[in-house]
Amino acid sequence: MGFDLDAVLAANRGENFSLYARHINPQLVRVLRTIGFDRHYVRGEGSYLYDDKGDRYLDFLSGFGVFALGRSHPAIKRALHQALDADLPNLIQMDAALLPGVLARELLRRCHPGMGRVVFTNSGAEAVEAALKFARAATSRPRVVYCDHAFHGLTYGALSANGGEDFRKGFGPLLPGFDKVPFGDAAALERALAPRDVAAFLIEPIQGKGVNVAPQAYWDSVQELCRRHGTLLIVDEVQTGLGRSGRMWAHEHYGVLPDLMTVSKALSGGFVPVGAMVCSEKVSDAVYSSMDRAVVHSSTFKNNQLAMVAALATLETIDDEDLVDRARVTGLALEKGLAPLLERYELFHEVRGKGLMVGLVFGAPDSLRQRARFRAVEMARSGLFAQTIVMPLFQRHRILTQVAADGVNIVKLLPPLICGQEEVDAFVGALDDVLDDATRGSGLVYEFARTLAKASLQRDR
Ligand SMILES: Cc1ncc(COP(=O)(O)O)c(C=O)c1O
Repeated sequence: MGFDLDAVLAANRGENFSLYARHINPQLVRVLRTIGFDRHYVRGEGSYLYDDKGDRYLDFLSGFGVFALGRSHPAIKRALHQALDADLPNLIQMDAALLPGVLARELLRRCHPGMGRVVFTNSGAEAVEAALKFARAATSRPRVVYCDHAFHGLTYGALSANGGEDFRKGFGPLLPGFDKVPFGDAAALERALAPRDVAAFLIEPIQGKGVNVAPQAYWDSVQELCRRHGTLLIVDEVQTGLGRSGRMWAHEHYGVLPDLMTVSKALSGGFVPVGAMVCSEKVSDAVYSSMDRAVVHSSTFKNNQLAMVAALATLETIDDEDLVDRARVTGLALEKGLAPLLERYELFHEVRGKGLMVGLVFGAPDSLRQRARFRAVEMARSGLFAQTIVMPLFQRHRILTQVAADGVNIVKLLPPLICGQEEVDAFVGALDDVLDDATRGSGLVYEFARTLAKASLQRDR
C-alpha cells in the first residue's frame, strides 16, 4: 500500500507533543505546557482553529501573519489542486518559467513605479538576505544600518540586523559592518549615514516586536537622508505587507518610496512558503551585470510552481475580497470596541498599530493597591503581566494571541484580514472579562502569574 495521510494521522494521534519534544525541540514543548497552550488542533477554517475535542479557537495570531486570508481558503485550495492536476513542468532550472514571470508582473503592478524586478525566495529571512546582498552590490559600500528592536529573520545577515540581544546571543561573530540606531531617531540616522559608506538602511514600517510606529516627520527624514547620503532604503514588509496595515504596503501610510522591499508570509496563502525581494531595475542590473553573473544570486526552489500559484491566487483573492480595505475597516472597529476598555481599566494604557496589526499596551495602574499587585507580577519577571493576559484569553475564551516581544507588557494581535465585527466583538468581550478579573484581583490572573514565575525560575536554573 502507498502513502496514506489519514493512516499516518490515525496511527500517531495524540503524539504531537511527545514526538516534538523527542525529535525537534523539547524546550518549546515545556513552554507550551507551562502556559497551557498544549492543544491538539485537527482543523483550521477561516478565522478559527478546531481541536480534537471539537472546541473552536479564534486565531488572532494568524501564524505570525501568514493567514491573512484565513485558513483553508477555497480559492487557494482550488488553485493548488488545479496546478497539481495539470502536471506542469516544475523547476527545469535551465529555463525561464512562465508563472514566476506572471507573479513578478502582478507584484510589481502593486508597487510604486520605481520598482522593476523581483527575486523569489523561500522565506522572509531569505528575502532580507537578498536585499542586503543586492544593496551592497549596487552601492559598492560595506555598511548596513538597522533599528533597535528590529526583527528581520534569523539567518546570519538578518540576525546581524536584529535589534534585540536575545536572538543574537551565542551565535557570534555576526556580520561586520552592521550598526544599530534607535527606531524613530532621525538625528541618529543622520550621524550613521553621514560617512557615506552605508549601502542600506533596513527598516520595518511598523516594528513587529512591540508594534512600534514612528511619526510622519521621521519617515520624511528617512527618505531624505537616504537619498542625500546615497544609501538605499530597504523596507521590510514581510509582516506588514499585503493589506495587514489597511494599505497594500504599510510604507504607503508614510508616502516613502523604498529602493528595495521584502515580502513573504501572507503571500503564501497559508499553504506554500514563498518570499520576494522587489527592487529597481538599476539595483538588479548591478547584480546580474553580465552573462557570467546571470546566476550569481539564486536558490533551487526560488520559482517553485506551487508557491507561484499560491501567491498568484492570494493576490487575486486579496483584490476580489477587498481585503486591504476590510483590514482598515475592521481595524477601526477594533479600535472603537477597545476604546471603552481603555477608559475603564487603568492598567490598559494604549492601543497602537495600524489596520489589523495591533499592540495593546499595559502598564502600572495609578491606584496604589492595583499598582502594588502589578509590580509584584512584574518583579517576578518583566513583561510577565502581558503573558497573564494572553493565558486566560486562550484558556478561558479560546482566543489565540501573543506577547509582542520579550520583556514588554504588550499583547499583539494579528487577526486574519477576513475577520469582521463578530470576531471583534468576541475579542473585546473576552479582554473586558480578563481585565475585569485582573483589576478586581479575583485571583485568576495572579494565579497565572505565580505559575509562570515558578516555571520561569526553574527554566533559568
Ligand atoms: C518583518 C520581518 N522580516 C523578516 C522575517 C523573517 O521571515 P521568516 O520567518 O519567513 O524567515 C519576519 C518574521 O517574522 C518578519 O516579521
